[in-house]
This record gives sequence, C-alpha cells and structure tokens, in this order.
Amino acid sequence: MAEKYLSIQEAINKSKGLVSVRGWIHRERGSNKLKFIVLRDSSSTIQCVFERSNFEKEWDAIDHLQVECSITVTGEIKEDKRAPTGYEIQVKKFELIGKSENYPITKDQSVEFLADNRHLWLRSLKMQAVLKIRSTIFGAIHEYFRQEGFYEYHSPLFQAVQCEGGAELFSVDYFGKKDVFLSQSWQLYAEPAIFSLEKIYTIAPSFRAEKSKTSRHLTEYWHAEMEVAWAEFDDIINYGEGLLKHVVKNVLDNNRKELEILSRDVKKLEPVVKKRFPRLTYDEALKLLKEKAKMNIPWGKDLRTIEEDKLSEFFDTPIAVTRYPKAVKAFYMKEPSDSNPKKPVVNGVDFLAPEHYGEIIGGSERESDIKKIEQRLEEQGEKCDEYQFYLDTRRYGSVPHGGFGLGVERIVSWICGLESIKDAIPFPRTMERYKP
Ligand code: 4AD
Ligand code: MG
Repeated sequence: MAEKYLSIQEAINKSKGLVSVRGWIHRERGSNKLKFIVLRDSSSTIQCVFERSNFEKEWDAIDHLQVECSITVTGEIKEDKRAPTGYEIQVKKFELIGKSENYPITKDQSVEFLADNRHLWLRSLKMQAVLKIRSTIFGAIHEYFRQEGFYEYHSPLFQAVQCEGGAELFSVDYFGKKDVFLSQSWQLYAEPAIFSLEKIYTIAPSFRAEKSKTSRHLTEYWHAEMEVAWAEFDDIINYGEGLLKHVVKNVLDNNRKELEILSRDVKKLEPVVKKRFPRLTYDEALKLLKEKAKMNIPWGKDLRTIEEDKLSEFFDTPIAVTRYPKAVKAFYMKEPSDSNPKKPVVNGVDFLAPEHYGEIIGGSERESDIKKIEQRLEEQGEKCDEYQFYLDTRRYGSVPHGGFGLGVERIVSWICGLESIKDAIPFPRTMERYKP
C-alpha cells in the first residue's frame, strides 16, 4: 500500500508515532555508525537519524546521501530538544527518489555566485521564508481590494504611450514598429475603465528602464495599482494607508516563523498596524528636514533618496507626503484650486516606508482639465494625438477620480527587512542581470 505522507510540519504536530515524510536533504553529517540528515519540505525541516545497525545492507547508499537528494523516510517521530526544529525521526525505512551530487551551493558563497545559481538558491531557508511572505502579501492585496468592493481589471502590457516619463521606457520591436513600449503602469488604460466599473485594481508586472543600480530598483517589478471614480484626494490616501495596514497585519498574523528565520524585528512592524500614518505636505517636509536635520532643500526640488531616508527616521510608520511641486510630478496629477500660481503644486502623494525603505506608493488625484493635461504633455514633448483615447476620459462624463501604484517588491523588501530588493523576487531583473 502506498504511504500516506505528512508534511514535515504535520508530522511535528503529530509529535509521536510512526510517520512518513518526504523532501530534500538540507544538511547531512555522519559517522560510521550514525547518519544525521536535516530534511526540508515546503512546511519545515526535521532531523532524521539513520542507525547503521538497522541498515547494514543499505549503509553504503545512506553514507552517500548528499545535500539536495530527494528522499522519502518512514520512522518514529519524537521530541528532541537538541534537534533544529525540536523533533527527530528515527528512520525505519527510506527511499532515494532523486540523487544530487556535489550540489554547487555550499557555505559562504559570494552574492554573484548565488545570483548565477538563483534557480538553486530559491531552495535556501532565507528565500523560502521571503517567498512565503511574498505569497501572503499578494493574497492580502487581493483580499483588501475585493473586500472594499473593487473589481480586478487588466491593462495591456504592450503600450503606445508613456505614463511615467519617456526616459524610463523599454521599447519593443513590434513587428518592425518602434513606438511600442512595455508598460510602466496600468494607469492610462485603467482610467477609461472606471467609467464602467468605478473601483478597480490590478497586480501586474511593470517595467522601468531606469539606469539606477540601487537596492530599491528593478527593471521588472510587480505593481499593485488601483483607480477609483468619484474619489477625492483624501480617499486615495486613506486607501493607501488601509492597504498597507492590511498587508502588514496579514504578515504578522501568518508569518511569524518566516519573520524569525529572517531575523526581522517584528516590533518595528507593529506600529504600522496600530498607529495612524502621519500626513505631511511637501512644504512641511522641507521644514522638518531643515529644523531636525539641517538639510536645506530649495523649494521646487524633488525629494531625493537621502532626504526621503532622513524624513523616515522621524517616524515609526510609513508617512504620506502630499502636495509636491507640479514640475517634479507626472502630467496627469491634479493642480488643486488653492495652488499658488507662483509655486504651483499637485495633489500627488508618496508613501515613504520607515527604516530607509523609501517610496512604496505613488499616487494622485487626477487632473480633470483637459487643457492643462494637453499643455503638460506638450511641455514634455509628447504628441497629444497618441493620447486621444485617454483624453476622451475627460470629454465624456468626466468625474473626480484618482489612484495609486504600490511596488510589491518594495514592501516585500521592507516587511522582510531585506538588504536589497533583489531578494524580494524569485528572478530579479536589473540593469546588469536578466539571467538565469
Ligand atoms: O510612483 P510611480 O512611478 O507611479 C506610477 O506608476 C503611477 N502611474 C501609479 C498609479 O497612480 N496608478 O510608481 C509606483 C510605485 C512606486 O511608489 C514604487 O513603489 C514602485 O512603483 N516602483 C518600483 N519598484 C521597483 N523598482 C522600480 N524601478 C520601481 N519604480 C517604481
Ligand atoms: Mg513615484
């Protein structure tokens, strides 16, 4: 009869008696009498002990079991405080399923080597923990928007217009045509759909040809975006705060073990769920930087990474910075009626994460004045002809609306406390790397 396999975690929960489990050899050591194997599956790890006296005939094979062999074992499970996860299996029976010889990843290898062997490094306990948290985060984003009454909606990824600045577009050879780009954002194709569905969201890849080699930039990332009809600027900010709280709460509720594997201090995440996020205008941000950090930023300059990082040091939750100078933000952002013509601002918002994780959400109320949009597109050297489909949103039944985009790897990186965003995604794509 076929064995009924338990996951390692289920076996640990059972805590005694005969169990059958299967997985990959995470670590092995032995003498000529005993062999210790730490077995790993997707749920946990467990120490398995082979005694030579029980396996005289098979000892040679057992002695040769190496890291990452896949095996099945049946044996008696019992508590053992010395074992890595507190339990041990005394093996009675085993079967080698897939051999593994000289697994390339050993201790203390360089970041480059691990990146070249990314397909294998995914099996590490660190990547396993990150990928589980990443899965929770994707689930929580869907759950949040759906419980708030949003429809999931999809924009094309081949696009013929720019949304976030032409310099950062990847162009594609589209059957010889050259004016086709990979999506930077769903937004220009999402705004038309709010006239049909009102509240929509997506999680989709976005592409940025940014020449940035930082710990925050990928060329391909997963973008959670939303767009809402009849929304005021504050509604957009409230959704951003609600979403971040929901996501962090879900990770705290479901991934304690993974956060521990990553040595993440959960005390740093708890305020995110409990406290209201401070909201400050760009002007207030400049004032704070001047008073608290003696940083003098001339009005009109965009906040750079060092200024964002300094600002985030004053708070233990994300903060929402609003009313940026019009000149540093995208063409579609709304200029509010109380904007000073000498220092024009827009109702744009950036959420900055604590602990130097930078901008995690960018959003805005959308400009409704078609003339202003056309003027700004022209200033940026864009051909308004290409944007007629978008401008129709302002011609036929325009309503106040807005939305935002959240970089999923940015929050995975922050929530997991990672050093680089590259570990927040299975196969990172950056300026330097598009393989394996
Ligand atoms: O601020 P961004 O450029 O805003 C937009 O794309 C809007 N059209 C979104 C919208 O309103 N629907 O990008 C949004 C977020 C950023 O806050 C950041 O979290 C993430 O996308 N992001 C990146 N993440 C990883 N690597 C990159 N190169 C990123 N560029 C932006
Ligand atoms: Mg932005």
